[in-house]
Amino acid sequence: MKMQLMTRSIGAPINRIDGIQKATGAAKYAYEYPVEGVVYLFPVQSTIARGRISAIDVSAAQALPGVITVLSHENAPRLAHLANTELEVLQTDAVAYNGQFVAAVIAETSEIARQAAELVVVHYEELPHHVELRADDKTLYKPPSVNEGHDVPDRFVGDVESALASAAVSLDQTYTTPTEHNNPLETHATIALWDNAGLTIYDSNQGSHAIRDTIATAFSLLPERIHIVTQYVGGGFGSKLFAHPPIILTVMAAQVTKRPVKLALTRQQMFSQTGYRTPTIQRIRLGADNHGHLTAIAHDVIEQTSTSYEFAEQVAVVTRRMYAAPNRRTTHRVARLDMPVPTYMRGPGECPGMFALESAMDELAIACGMDPIELRIRNEPTIDPETGYPFSSRGLVACLQEGARRFGWQQRDPTPRMRQEGRWLIGTGVASSTYPAYYYPASASVQVDHRGMYQVHIDATDIGTGARTALTQIAADVLDAPLEQVQLEIGNSDQPAAGYAGGSSGTSSWGWAIFNAANALHTKLQEECGGVIPAEGLSARGTFDTNPELQQFAIHSFGAQFAEVHINVDTGEIRVPRLLGVFAAGKIVNPKTAHSQFMGGMTWGLSMALHEASVLDTRYGNYVNHDFGGYHISTNADVGTIDVVWLEEDDLHVNPLGTKGIGEIGIVGTAAAIANAAFHATGIRVRDLPITLDKFL
Ligand code: MOS
Repeated sequence: MKMQLMTRSIGAPINRIDGIQKATGAAKYAYEYPVEGVVYLFPVQSTIARGRISAIDVSAAQALPGVITVLSHENAPRLAHLANTELEVLQTDAVAYNGQFVAAVIAETSEIARQAAELVVVHYEELPHHVELRADDKTLYKPPSVNEGHDVPDRFVGDVESALASAAVSLDQTYTTPTEHNNPLETHATIALWDNAGLTIYDSNQGSHAIRDTIATAFSLLPERIHIVTQYVGGGFGSKLFAHPPIILTVMAAQVTKRPVKLALTRQQMFSQTGYRTPTIQRIRLGADNHGHLTAIAHDVIEQTSTSYEFAEQVAVVTRRMYAAPNRRTTHRVARLDMPVPTYMRGPGECPGMFALESAMDELAIACGMDPIELRIRNEPTIDPETGYPFSSRGLVACLQEGARRFGWQQRDPTPRMRQEGRWLIGTGVASSTYPAYYYPASASVQVDHRGMYQVHIDATDIGTGARTALTQIAADVLDAPLEQVQLEIGNSDQPAAGYAGGSSGTSSWGWAIFNAANALHTKLQEECGGVIPAEGLSARGTFDTNPELQQFAIHSFGAQFAEVHINVDTGEIRVPRLLGVFAAGKIVNPKTAHSQFMGGMTWGLSMALHEASVLDTRYGNYVNHDFGGYHISTNADVGTIDVVWLEEDDLHVNPLGTKGIGEIGIVGTAAAIANAAFHATGIRVRDLPITLDKFL
C-alpha cells in the first residue's frame, strides 16, 4: 500500500511549535478563556453509595448572597435518556455511587458557590451496597464483550486443562492490581455558554467530536449547534476520552441561568467523577515442556464495572497474541458494583494484563532454569496465535536482544539475592511490551493560497503529546512543502471530524486523513487547474475510514522493558535507579517528542509499580486517599535514569506514513520488569501492586 513519501520534516527532532506559548502561559486552557458575565458552579456529591434522596434542603444555600440558583433532581431540566445513566445528571432521586452529583450551586464567584454547596442538606434513604471486588463474588458474570465491544470476553483454543496436567513445568499464580485514578495534571474543566450560535463549550478533553455528540443527545440538540473548543489540554490518560457528569452539569447550569458557566473539578472530585482503572484479580496458569516451550496459557481475569454502564476492560486480550502456546484460555468476569463507571486508563488492557503475564513468564523462566529473555524468544510465534494472520512486523525479539546488549544482561547472575552494596540489595528484571495499532475514522481539509501557503484543519486534539507538532510535520511532507508554509489548526469541533486522542491512534489516523486530503488537493490541482494554484486558492478534503490491511495482518507495536532496582535490607524501601525501554513501533515522526512520550509512559509504569493505588473504604464506597497527599504518583525524585531506544521499523502495512502509535506502549511491561527485578534482588515475589516496602519485610 505504501506510496513513496519524500520525508523532509518527518523524522526531524523539531521543537514543539506551541512550546513557547505553553511555557510562557500564553496557551489558553479550557478554564482560562475570558468570558463576559461568567458565573461559577460547584457540585454537591452524595455521601452514600446506594439509595435515594429522601429530602433536600437548599434554603440556606439559596439565601447566601451571590447565589444564583441551586439545582437538584427536583428542579433540573430533563435530559434525554443516555446509554450511560451516570450522565443522566440530577434526573432522579436515586443514588448509584458515592460522590454522585446530587445538587449544584451556581453563584457569582467560585468561593460563594463552594461555600453554598456546603450548606445544602441532603437526607438519604440508604440501601445496602456492593462496592468491593472479590474473587469469590457470586454475582460475577461474563460480559457480552470487552474493550467497548471490540473483543469477545472468552477465548478457548485446544485443551488447556489436559496440557497443564501433563506439563513438565507448570505455574498457577494470581496477580492483582488496584484501582487507579487517571489524574491528569489539569483537572477536568469546562466553560459553557449559550448564544445565538448555539452552545459553545471550552472544554478539556481528548476528542471534541464524540463529546459533542453525547451533549447533543443529552440535550436534544443538533450536533451542528454545538461548538467545542479544545486548544490545549493538560493531560488526559483516558479520563478525558468520553463525556462525564461534570460537562453535562455545566451545560445544564448555563441553560438554566442563561449565563456562561465555569466548572473546574477539584482534585478530590476527580476521584469519583471522571473514571478510573478497574482493579484486577488475574489468575495465570502456564504449562511448559522441559525446554521452556509453552504448552498452555490460561489467563482468567476478574474486574469490576458499574450499575450505570457496562465498561469491561480487555485485560486478558493481550495474552491471546503474545506467545505461541497451542492451548490457550482467556476469560473475563465482571462484578457490577455500586461504584462509578470505570474507563480506559494509560494502556488499558495491555497495561494490567502484561503485569500479570510478564510476571508469570519470569516465574516460569525460574522454574525452567532458563534465562527469561531466552524463554520469551523460544515462545515467539510465527503468526498471530489469535487471528492466524501474519504480524505486519513484530520486533519483540529484536527489542529483547538489543535491550539485553545495552543493559548488560549477559553479566547477570540469575540467582536471587546475590548482589548487595551496603544495605541495598540489587536486582535486574525484564519484561515484554506491546500495544495494538488502533485506527479511528478521521477527516481533514487542506487549503492552499496563491502564495503556496497551506492551511490544514482537523479536529485532532493535542493532550500534551506533541500532536500539533507531529501532525504539522506530517502535513508538510504529504503536501511536499517546507514546515514554515504549513499552518495546522486543530481542537475545534467545527473542523472536520476526527477520533479521539486515545488508543495511541492519533498520529496514524489523523495523519492518514491529512495524507488523503493532501492527495485530493494534489489531484484537484492537476486535473482542474493544470497544476497552477488559482488566485482564489484551492481546497480539498480527505477522509480515512479504516486500515484494510487489518483484514490480513496483525498490527501491533512491541518492546522490551529492563529495570534495575535497589531494595533496602532494613527498611524494604525500593528505588529504581535505571529503566531501559527498547521499542519497535513503526516510523517515529518526531524523535524529540517521541522520546518524551516513551519516557513518560515508562515513568507511569514506574508509578504503577511503586505508588499508585486508590484505597477503598468499603463502608461508604469512596476512596480514602482522594488527593495527591494520599494518592501517590511518581515524581522527579522517584525517577532515575530512563533510557529510551527505538529500532528502525519500516512497516509497509500500517499506513502510508509507516506509524504505529507510541502513546501507550511505554507503560506496558514496566511494572512487571520492576517486579521481576525486585524478585531478583530479594527472592521475594510481589504479585500485588503497588510494590511497597512492607512487602519485603
Ligand atoms: Mo488512552 S487510556 O486510550 O487515553
